[in-house]
Amino acid sequence: MGFRRAGVIAHGRSRWLWVALIAALFLTLVMVVYAAPRHAQDTTASAQPVAFSHKTHTDKGIDCLYCHSNASRGQVASIPSVEKCMGCHQVVTPQDPRAKAEVEKIRDAWARGVPLRWEKKFDQPDFVYFSHGPHIRAHIQCEDCHGDVGSQDMPKADYHITMGFCLNCHLDQSPDKVAKLRDCATCHK
Ligand code: HEC
Ligand code: HEC
Ligand code: HEC
Ligand code: HEC
Ligand code: HEC
Repeated sequence: MGFRRAGVIAHGRSRWLWVALIAALFLTLVMVVYAAPRHAQDTTASAQPVAFSHKTHTDKGIDCLYCHSNASRGQVASIPSVEKCMGCHQVVTPQDPRAKAEVEKIRDAWARGVPLRWEKKFDQPDFVYFSHGPHIRAHIQCEDCHGDVGSQDMPKADYHITMGFCLNCHLDQSPDKVAKLRDCATCHK
């Protein structure tokens, strides 16, 4: 009888030990999960392969469409190739040593024949159909959707274009167009 009781107590103790162990493991897991994304989020600027500034380039009078030439034609605006950068940076060398070091990275990529891998920030889910073409042809400004990119160093990463944002403008168009522009199938193919 006494023997069995002792066994029950020992069993009870080890169960609490297990509970404590699992709780500790769970806590560690929670801490890791919460710490990780925060860590990843504050590197948006430095994650880009070259410290490219929109402001520098638009201040020199370079048009958005010079670099994002596909925007007026098709679905994606696309990020300019190394070749496009080299069109100027074969000869354009900034005086400032830090800026010059950034330009050297472009020349290095060009010499090695590798692309610059830009991190994409404006990204719609796959179930959304968007095309730049009809918007640019309808004279909608880049800034209406992307904000004042020209005066920023790097476009903001936290920008989010929601369905309400798209619809607000579509419902504002001339009545003969609204039926099509509000149709689910226009944006969800
Ligand atoms: C000299 C070339 C150049 C010019 C001019 C330029 N861009 Fe860019 N653009 C880039 C490069 C390179 C990137 C990728 C790096 C980055 O995100 O900053 C980029 C990124 C962007 C992005 C973010 C894309 C994404 O999803 O990550 C937007 C939006 C954009 N440009 C809009 C504009 C607008 C609007 C203008 C005019 C005011 C403009 N750009 C002028 C080269 C250019
Ligand atoms: C139409 C010409 C032109 C094109 C195309 C161009 N740049 Fe520039 N870039 C300039 C000029 C002009 C400067 C300013 C140089 C100076 O300060 O003396 C500059 C400066 C820079 C600098 C120095 C840092 C700064 O902000 O001043 C970097 C980095 C740079 N460009 C990256 C790029 C990249 C990456 C591309 C391709 C996506 C690109 N540029 C395409 C003309 C151009
Ligand atoms: C009506 C809103 C709207 C307008 C106007 C607009 N864009 Fe965009 N842009 C978007 C959306 C939405 C995306 C994300 C597309 C995706 O993920 O499929 C995007 C993506 C981009 C990208 C990332 C690369 C790509 O093509 O996906 C660049 C660069 C860009 N836009 C530049 C521009 C420039 C430059 C202009 C003006 C000439 C412009 N955009 C006008 C909504 C717009
Ligand atoms: C600032 C106003 C505005 C915003 C914001 C906007 N659009 Fe548009 N959209 C237009 C206009 C104007 C047209 C062209 C209408 C025409 O002339 O046929 C258009 C056309 C389109 C078309 C082509 C329709 C066709 O005729 O087949 C699609 C697809 C589309 N928009 C999707 C989107 C999506 C997705 C978003 C959000 C990511 C969006 N639009 C945000 C104004 C806007
Ligand atoms: C003008 C473009 C446009 C039209 C028209 C449109 N949607 Fe969307 N829809 C979007 C965009 C953009 C998103 C993604 C929003 C995001 O990423 O937050 C979306 C997201 C959604 C989602 C995912 C849930 C959510 O809110 O993110 C559902 C479901 C949806 N749409 C259903 C519909 C239905 C049903 C219709 C017709 C009544 C419709 N949509 C018409 C642009 C549109």
